[in-house]
Parts: sequence; C-alpha cells; structure tokens
Amino acid sequence: MDLFEYQARDLFEAHGVPVLAGIVAQTPEEAKAAAEKIGGVVVVKAQVKVGGRGKAGGVKVAKTPDEAYEYAKQILGMDIKGHTVNTVMIAQGADIAEEYYFSVLLDRANRNYLAMCSVEGGMEIEQLAVERPEALAKVAIDPLVGIDEAKAKEIVEVAGFDAETGAKVVPVLVKLYDVFKGEDATLVEVNPLVKTGAGDILALDGKVTLDENADFRHPRHAALEDAASTDPLEAKAKESDLNYVKLDGEVGIIGNGAGLVMSTLDVVAYAGEKNGGVKPANFLDIGGGASAEVMANGLDVILGDPQVKSVFVNVFGGITACDEVAKGIVGALAELGSSANKPLVVRLDGNKVEEGRKILQDANHPLVTLAATMDEGADKAAALANAN
Ligand SMILES: Nc1ncnc2c1ncn2[C@@H]1O[C@H](COP(=O)(O)OP(=O)(O)O)[C@@H](O)[C@H]1O
Ligand SMILES: [Mg+2]
Repeated sequence: MDLFEYQARDLFEAHGVPVLAGIVAQTPEEAKAAAEKIGGVVVVKAQVKVGGRGKAGGVKVAKTPDEAYEYAKQILGMDIKGHTVNTVMIAQGADIAEEYYFSVLLDRANRNYLAMCSVEGGMEIEQLAVERPEALAKVAIDPLVGIDEAKAKEIVEVAGFDAETGAKVVPVLVKLYDVFKGEDATLVEVNPLVKTGAGDILALDGKVTLDENADFRHPRHAALEDAASTDPLEAKAKESDLNYVKLDGEVGIIGNGAGLVMSTLDVVAYAGEKNGGVKPANFLDIGGGASAEVMANGLDVILGDPQVKSVFVNVFGGITACDEVAKGIVGALAELGSSANKPLVVRLDGNKVEEGRKILQDANHPLVTLAATMDEGADKAAALANAN
C-alpha cells in the first residue's frame, strides 16, 4: 500500500525523523486556517499518490494565509497524471540551502535491502540514475544489520557528502531506516532531504510503501487505507482474503494459482475477439484449498459486478483435488441461491478430474456448463457473455 505524503510525514515524525509542521485541508477555507495556525511562509502541496507534483503545478509557496487560500483553490480538484486532488497539505515553508536524495527499498533480485543516496536531490532521480549513475550511491543493506550508525556513515561517504553535513545526515538515515523496519515498509524515499540555511537536515517529501503481508503486525495501518479510492468489489474481496483485481470486461474469471489465472485472462481475451470483443472482468485467484466457502466468496464478489455476463471457472487440481473444487461450486451455488444468476462455464483438470466432473454432472445445475479444455471453456464463456 502506497501512502500519501502527509501520512508518510506523520510516520516520519513518530519515528523521530525531522519534519516540518503539516496540516491537511480539503477546502480553501481549511487551507487558510491551517496557514494561519502554522504562521509565516507555507507551501500548499497536492496530496496524490504520484511523483512530480511540483512540476505539475501541485506544489506552491504561499506567503500569506490569503495566498494559501488561493493556491488551495487552484490545486484542489486538479488532475495530476490521472489522479484528482481531493486533499492538500499545508506545510511549513523551509529555507532550502541544498536538496539531497535518500531511499531504502526491498531489493527482490538480490534478496536484500538497498539504500540509495545522492547529494543531488530534488530533480527527477530516474533521470539522474540514467544520465549520471555515478552521482547516485547504491549501498546494499544486510537486513540482519540494517542501517546502523556505521552503515549510515558509509552511505553518506559513498554519496559524497562533506564531513560536516554528512555527520548531520547520519542520524536522520538511521531514523529513516527505523521507519522502514518498524513499519514493515518496502520503500521509504525522501526527495528532497534538505539542508536549511541554518544547517538543519529535514525530510521535505516522503514516499512510503507498506508491505500489506505484514498488516497483521500493524493494526494501526488499516486507518491509512484510502477508502474513498478503493473499488467496493475489491474491498469486499479483501475482507474475504481473496486475491481479486477488478478489470473492465464482461467475463468473470476464477482460477487457482496466479499463473493459471493470468493465462486464463489471455485465453479469454483472445476468445473475446471472435465474440463481440468481450474481455475478462477480473483477476481472481482462489489459491490452494478452494473450499465451498472460498468458492462462494469468490462467486459472490464476481456476481456482484454488474458488468459480468458470464463466469469461467478454470481449475487445475493439484493439492486441491477437483472433487473438492466441484463440491465447492455446488455448495457455493446452493449457498448463493437466487443471487447466482449468470451462466458458469467450468473446466476442471488434474487431480481427481473424473470425480469432480461427475459431481457437477450429477448436480446438473441449470447455470453450469462443463468444458473439456481451457480453450473450449474460454470460447463458451466468451460466447455466453456476448449473447447475454
Ligand atoms: N515545505 C517546503 N518548503 C519549501 N519548499 C518545499 C517544501 N516542500 C516542497 N518544497 C519544494 O518543492 C519541490 C517539490 O516538492 P515535493 O514534495 O518533492 O513534491 P514532488 O516530488 O511530488 O514534486 C521540492 O523539491 C522542494 O524544492
Ligand atoms: Mg519529491
């Protein structure tokens, strides 16, 4: 889960990272009141989960509360790279002498963490990394050790900080690592990390991605979720612990295993080309152990999508045998009753396939059609979606 800048700021503050005052506002009036409360020069900052807000005109310096009102009026409702600005943060203005870059992230390829740091922050770091990679220090971080003082010293040295500034940056990096580790983040990025005219180091921007697999350790993270922008079907699927992604088409998809579901999406999209251009309506991986309950939850979510015209259940029995899956489908249809009202094409293969098919044939549910192969199932489901 990606956080808004103001949420990252709050986490930084909680872990002792030096930040400036920041107050969120949803109206120009609130923005003005916030500017009055903070006092002095403030910066009106669009809160959207994309970078490059400054370049897009979403970060504006306001010298008075009235200016903050005007800028908030401009920025609220603005579209930045497809994201509508519903909230601004009124941040205390910093007297910036220099801008740096720092990030620590999960380095999947190397099964490690990676810290990146540069004395040339502020500008687009992707561009710096391409044009002058030597200006971006990359230091591998052993997860068992983390960024302690010694590691932070190494990072600032490789990045090329002068001794005096480096000594001030070191404790900030240690605290930023504390955010990364303590909150189970996969990314903590600060661009810019600045030195003020008075020589203080401050985090002026923050990008944090939290690892949702660790949510159980952080009950407080639930409150950080942006409920307004979450698709209601995705929210419902999440409640039942389903791996569901809403897509744009008409053919609901249920499969077991992410790889099989991905290829099912391809095959259905291909079959759709010959059937009025219908497309997959979702990604749904019920994983191993597809009990009747999991199947019912999955079907319930998919049938709740008004765009769905047919459903293709594509299961390859492995650890979860086909007879279990078939029982799951029959049980789910019984449980859902009249709310199951769209045709289902089921393709079963693998472990206990004969037993599974027999269960479905015996149940003889009017909505269920069996398919012998994945291609046949995709064709049937696409044709049904096109006909409905
Ligand atoms: N509180 C602040 N005080 C002064 N300048 C700021 C402040 N916050 C941001 N800026 C300036 O605006 C630029 C862009 O802001 P930033 O928060 O990094 O947004 P983005 O990375 O999305 O463009 C920064 O590089 C910095 O120069
Ligand atoms: Mg930035």
